Amino acid sequence: MNTRSSLLGLAVAAAVAAILSDARWDAPADAATREPMFDRQTVAKGAQLAAIGNCAACHTQPGGKPYAGGRPLKTMFGTIYSTNITPDVETGIVAWSQGDFLRAMHDGTDRAGRNLYPAFPYDHFTRVTDDDVNAIYAFVMTRDPVHAVVPPNRLTFPMNLRPLLSAWKMLFFDRGVYRPDPTHGAQWNRGAYLVDGLGHCGACHTPRNSLGAEEKRQDLGGGEAEGWHATALDASSPTPLPWTAEQMFKYLRQGWDDSHGTAAGPMKPVSHDLSEVNEEDVRAIAAYLMWTMKQRHLRPASPAETLGGAAQTGEGAVIFEGACASCHGGSSASTPSTHTVPLGLTTSLNAPDPRNAIHIVLEGIWPESGESGAWMPGFEGALSADQLATLLAYLRAHFTSQPTWSDIASHLRETMQRKDRQ
Ligand code: HEC
Ligand code: HEC
Ligand code: HEC
Repeated sequence: MNTRSSLLGLAVAAAVAAILSDARWDAPADAATREPMFDRQTVAKGAQLAAIGNCAACHTQPGGKPYAGGRPLKTMFGTIYSTNITPDVETGIVAWSQGDFLRAMHDGTDRAGRNLYPAFPYDHFTRVTDDDVNAIYAFVMTRDPVHAVVPPNRLTFPMNLRPLLSAWKMLFFDRGVYRPDPTHGAQWNRGAYLVDGLGHCGACHTPRNSLGAEEKRQDLGGGEAEGWHATALDASSPTPLPWTAEQMFKYLRQGWDDSHGTAAGPMKPVSHDLSEVNEEDVRAIAAYLMWTMKQRHLRPASPAETLGGAAQTGEGAVIFEGACASCHGGSSASTPSTHTVPLGLTTSLNAPDPRNAIHIVLEGIWPESGESGAWMPGFEGALSADQLATLLAYLRAHFTSQPTWSDIASHLRETMQRKDRQ
């Protein structure tokens, strides 16, 4: 189905939805139920939950005031700006009752009853319990009010029409709070609740269809995020070494694990937020991911593969020796430096496409401002496009046992163009 015919289908479905539409979505919100007072414990719980939900990451512009919105989110239909969710009188959500807020999180509807775009991941937040949403409400409503008007969305017709989203919801939105699975224990259920609900991991890690909805049959099967590949977290995980729960816990909480490498790109703010969350919740997420990934037959990589066994010849090897080997252990005989992961173990080199490796080599790796952590220089401008392509082909062939990347040049072009537009 191409995009044009799917849009037409959507328009027809919208007409149907308009007739069948649930009155609840259009009903005016009840402003009388707002609770002005919040106890400290609830606010503290809300702070932890807001970190798991990455509310600040999306609702804060680079360099802007927290939760004041205005961050542009690029979707396949255009740019959507996150809203100001501070309790500001004119530009924020101070007038929102607890019920209004719950409706936004559970139904994807704003205070006036209009549909919200699923760039706000309410298809996941609908799984969050009322109690947890109310704690987040208490946290959000006790932030500093910020007067900030958000720019209007720039979306292509007909996706700029909010009523059409009723059709989208009818087709793809599975409303409802998480129901615990009695065949699993408490930790598994906590992990599933956080991954599928507030953590909205699938928003990046699940592939999407032509209308931007997640393919539920491929839950966590690998997806897209800001020009990066969000690694599969199901049985198709490309990791050459099986994860253990402890390694996963470290990766999620510290953004780094010495058998799997660094959380870079769009994963970096996620692990940064998880560093503020209580330990049991991160352990529950890690335990649940062990379950989602476990069915596959994992083939531990041999040392020759992970450290590079073949002789190093050719132009790629020369570039690597000159630019990378000082930190990434050049020859097959040397042990990798204690500060870098053997390149053959990293998911970026084992991934189905070279995008993440391209991003990392061009941009480097930087700690969050004010923190210490892994550092690697970016090579944008230092290496030509041809040199980069040669280097990437060499890395893939030399350090992994995966098939060659066939499309390095086109991915390089796309990534560079994307960066130019930003
Ligand atoms: C992936 C990015 C993203 C994340 C994460 C996110 N939001 Fe949003 N949110 C948005 C966008 C974009 C909109 C605007 C949608 C629209 O205009 O239809 C929005 C809208 C909202 C609205 C409706 C506000 C209004 O004025 O209509 C509320 C409330 C909200 N978000 C709360 C939250 C909370 C609480 C969290 C954390 C639990 C959160 N959001 C996490 C992107 C995000
Ligand atoms: C905003 C998009 C986004 C969200 C949300 C997100 N991730 Fe990621 N994640 C990524 C990207 C991109 C990568 C690849 C990063 C890299 O190669 O350094 C990644 C990598 C990972 C990896 C490493 C996998 C491997 O085998 O190397 C794990 C584990 C992971 N994410 C878990 C999670 C969990 C758990 C959540 C939800 C709590 C989550 N992610 C939410 C984008 C996201
Ligand atoms: C100054 C030291 C330094 C240099 C030079 C350097 N790197 Fe890195 N690199 C690091 C560190 C530190 C990390 C993060 C820790 C890790 O993941 O191993 C990293 C990570 C990586 C990763 C990602 C690993 C992951 O976790 O996904 C790749 C791929 C990579 N480097 C490739 C290169 C290439 C190719 C070059 C040469 C063009 C290079 N690096 C040069 C220090 C360096």
